[in-house]
Amino acid sequence: MNSQYLSIFFLLVLLPMLTHSEGPVPSISLEHLDPTLPPAALAGQIPKCSVLVLQQEFTDTTGSPPASANYTHPRECPFPWTRVILELSVSASDLQRDRIAAVWIDGSEILRTTTPLPMAPGAFWTVRKDVSRYSAILRRLGDPSYTAARGRGIISMMLENSDSPTHLPGVYSANVSLHFYRGSTTTTAAAAAAHPNTRSLYHEPADIILPISNPTGYLGSNGFWFRIDNETHIQPAPFALPMNAYRAVLEIFVSYHGDDQFWYTNPLRNSYLHRSPGANLSTPRANGGFRQLYANIDGQFAGGHIPFPVIYPRSINPFFWSPVAAIGAFDMPSYDLDLTPFLGLLLDGRTHEIGLGVRDAQAYWLVSANLHVWVDLWSDAVRAGLVHYYVPPLKVNRNAEWRNLDGQSEINAEGLWQFTGWVSSSRGNITTAVRQKIKFKSQIEVQNRGAVTQVEVNNKERMMVEMSRGHQTLGRAQMLVEAPLQVQTTSVSAAGGSVFRKARLFHQLLESVVLSEGQAMTTSTLTDRQDAEGSALMRGEEPVWGSGSTRSSYKYRDDNTCYLRALNTAGGVIMIDTTSPSCAAEA
Ligand SMILES: *[C@@H]1O[C@H](CO)[C@@H](O)[C@H](O)[C@H]1NC(C)=O
Ligand SMILES: *[C@@H]1O[C@H](CO)[C@@H](O)[C@H](O)[C@H]1NC(C)=O
Ligand SMILES: *[C@@H]1O[C@H](CO)[C@@H](O)[C@H](O)[C@H]1NC(C)=O
Ligand SMILES: *[C@@H]1O[C@H](CO)[C@@H](O)[C@H](O)[C@H]1NC(C)=O
Ligand SMILES: *[C@@H]1O[C@H](CO)[C@@H](O)[C@H](O)[C@H]1NC(C)=O
Repeated sequence: MNSQYLSIFFLLVLLPMLTHSEGPVPSISLEHLDPTLPPAALAGQIPKCSVLVLQQEFTDTTGSPPASANYTHPRECPFPWTRVILELSVSASDLQRDRIAAVWIDGSEILRTTTPLPMAPGAFWTVRKDVSRYSAILRRLGDPSYTAARGRGIISMMLENSDSPTHLPGVYSANVSLHFYRGSTTTTAAAAAAHPNTRSLYHEPADIILPISNPTGYLGSNGFWFRIDNETHIQPAPFALPMNAYRAVLEIFVSYHGDDQFWYTNPLRNSYLHRSPGANLSTPRANGGFRQLYANIDGQFAGGHIPFPVIYPRSINPFFWSPVAAIGAFDMPSYDLDLTPFLGLLLDGRTHEIGLGVRDAQAYWLVSANLHVWVDLWSDAVRAGLVHYYVPPLKVNRNAEWRNLDGQSEINAEGLWQFTGWVSSSRGNITTAVRQKIKFKSQIEVQNRGAVTQVEVNNKERMMVEMSRGHQTLGRAQMLVEAPLQVQTTSVSAAGGSVFRKARLFHQLLESVVLSEGQAMTTSTLTDRQDAEGSALMRGEEPVWGSGSTRSSYKYRDDNTCYLRALNTAGGVIMIDTTSPSCAAEA
């Protein structure tokens, strides 16, 4: 559709609608939904106990430290638990912008989430997450001698909101609860795998979780987050491992803000491609759509991931994300790096340093991490050695051809790394090999004097973790993640400096995990897909008017289960919502 046609469309179709905005407010769904696998699929199971751990209204909290509460665990609900579910339920009193929020226990992040964009008073939603993985922290909470003796056991939540007169009036009210389950759970291992990670291979959660986060989090305006401002800005955090650690996995949480809020749609402009070092770059959002989140240990690269582009509720067309959340928006993915091969460098009882960075980052990213550590209770110290460290430079190809506003750019990146190390503990002398491969492509095309843009991004990652003793393979986890994203937008200027934009989107997250242990092999696959189409009139970043329809389909399958959820929304209303615990609806 060319821009001339659009202007006519605007005059004939939209203008009458805008001038009749005094009419009755159409009924829209106040509940926002995220079609994912229900955590633990605890059909019919009643928790042993449920604790409301934090209750807070976030009114004007920009620049304030997180809200915190002391935790008291009910005596009649002792450790161990088979499963623990975190439930965050939030409502918005009125219109408000979308915000990033997080929940921490003693400085360890357990949930990063975005609020939807509340488009009507009374919008509400619930995020449920299986947090059994953090049982080392939860167990501590359940131990009254620990919390009393150390003055810890503190639950915190941050949600920077502003209802000042220049902003929107909405106040967010949040309840954070923990549900503890005992006894058998009906679910398979499947339930845990919202995003593939090494927990598929390591059945038992870690014994210790060390927060790699801002130690002044209770008081500071950044909470427990570290802020990354550019590609050379690496946030260092000290840590020391117990000398009997036999396994370590780093879990990193991220969100992106400011100039990098829409990093995955950034074009690569000539000025960046041919920049001289230290040049003054006046257009910050033009360095292309490639980012890599990574960690260093004592200055040495220890693995990384291309972040999954979680689309924030105000992005592309806000009416796509009401009342359905974008993939990963309610429970933003965290990224695992298996650091076990590096234990040989870390078991000396000394303090070491983890550095968190984002390649090609612009201001700013908020990161924090948890170091999951397994210890050998039968040893005072274990021995370990790094035997293979292979990190060839990432191959990044950048091309751009622009003439004024129009043109195209492309970034291709390919990388491969491998780490192997042995750990000799009471479990034997076990060698862990970690292999990872990434293939990334970003293509941006702009036409019609900047009016038409086409964004195509794809990321493919393969990971493998293999454990062996001598020549015998004990277990292997192979994970494949693919995340294609396509966005087409057509914009025309409208009255009063606003912009009318039509957009179409396709976004998908494909994950497959193959796990082999001895003779046994299990596979699981997830296909999470959204297709959306619609138009919006935007004033700056605020939606004035618009509509959108979104089709979401979430399918999880493993050897025992198949779960399917299809959710179609249009004009702020749920049109179809079907769930099939057997995928029977698929036929
Ligand atoms: C938590 O407990 C500590 C020590 O008993 C106390 O000083 C602090 O005020 C309490 N915090 C909250 C939010 O109640
Ligand atoms: C929080 O819990 C209280 C009851 O303790 C309830 O009245 C309120 O509606 C809840 N708020 C949300 C957002 O769920
Ligand atoms: C990167 O960010 C850090 C922290 O804000 C700042 O000190 C440094 O000067 C920045 N470097 C560049 C090259 O902009
Ligand atoms: C960079 O350029 C912009 C626009 O030309 C100017 O306003 C700014 O002061 C310059 N910054 C530096 C550090 O030279
Ligand atoms: C463990 O095995 C590796 C090779 O598989 C070997 O190099 C190392 O010396 C062994 N360590 C111990 C303590 O036996």
